[in-house]
Amino acid sequence: KYNDLALTPPMGWNSWNTFETNIDENLVKETADIMVASGMAAAGYTYIVLDDGWMAKERDAKGNLVPDPIKFPSGMKSLVEYIHAKGLKFGLYNCAGTHTCAGYPGTRGYEYQDARFYADLNIDFLKYDWCNTEGINAKEAYTTMSNALQTAGKPIVFSLCEWGDNQPWDWGKPVGNLWRISGDIYPCFDCEFKHEQGNWSSWGFMKIIEMRKNIRKFSGPDHWNDFDMLEVGNGMTNNEDKAHFTMWSMMSSPLIAGNDFRKMSKETLAILSNKELIAVNQDKLGIQGFKYSAKDGLEIWVKPLSDGNWVITFLNRSDVTKKIYFDWIKEVIRDVDFNLETNFSTTNYKIIDLWKNKEVGNTKKIFISDLSSHDVITLKLNKI
Ligand code: GLA
Repeated sequence: KYNDLALTPPMGWNSWNTFETNIDENLVKETADIMVASGMAAAGYTYIVLDDGWMAKERDAKGNLVPDPIKFPSGMKSLVEYIHAKGLKFGLYNCAGTHTCAGYPGTRGYEYQDARFYADLNIDFLKYDWCNTEGINAKEAYTTMSNALQTAGKPIVFSLCEWGDNQPWDWGKPVGNLWRISGDIYPCFDCEFKHEQGNWSSWGFMKIIEMRKNIRKFSGPDHWNDFDMLEVGNGMTNNEDKAHFTMWSMMSSPLIAGNDFRKMSKETLAILSNKELIAVNQDKLGIQGFKYSAKDGLEIWVKPLSDGNWVITFLNRSDVTKKIYFDWIKEVIRDVDFNLETNFSTTNYKIIDLWKNKEVGNTKKIFISDLSSHDVITLKLNKI
């Protein structure tokens, strides 16, 4: 464990997925206002994080970072106070390299000075990226910033954004609270989006799940695998948004919304604030789910919970409607990484459909249902 500030996966909002560097203080204030007024704060969303683009292009004469005075005319300190007064927490972004990915001043060589700057601002969360880091060692660079933050003294959630190339899950646990495990997410189900400039891709949410399903034993309370910020409300279909949110909950990934709250539809709000799915994500056991089976595009994912019960998700990865026919008593669910098991021929469970929020029978009966393309059915099994 790092500093106990993320015993369950962090929840909040980040500016990048919708706004990139087009951010300013009104956007932040309006987002915070809606987070509270919409009930999202009550559902658990806490952090408002400004990603790349909040700084001026140069440090000041003393080498301090400078919040962009045009985007933030009232100053960053007053914005942090505004967020705190709403009962929320505030986060900023920087990068281990010489410059951020969008070309703003990076922290390399300024770790202790920047950590003091964040402590003075009284921020609660730092996302720390990995662009422009030629020739430096990831574990060392993140450890230096982690030490600097601790020396500065303000407890801060430290979010490593290294994309997984240097296996942060192997060394990140004493360094930070969460680490990215992949390149950037893209708002699609299973696609690879190749960027025209540079030789890099962004990934549909099921691609990220698939790439990193085998590192689940490295994730847990205060040291999370971060599957990237949510794309719910950013152009996918309702089924896909539902599947995306469900899988992030099944994987115990941080739930950092990335949509424009000012234009949020009621369907998007309903998905993001689904209390049953959030409870799966926030379960205090903190075990990342796993793929139980896959056949002809119909996948079954399972997650054990702290109350000794299980959540099971049927996910239709294909383009056609599938028929689910699941005879529980012929199945044994085994979590080999965490040494847990359940056997339906000896234990009977009551079944709650979490998206319908309704009891739908028990595991003595065969479960039969249709499931449309890119949709999910998520069942909570409660031991009888
Ligand atoms: C990288 C990160 C993204 C975002 C951008 C900002 O691509 O992975 O999440 O922070 O940089 O430039």
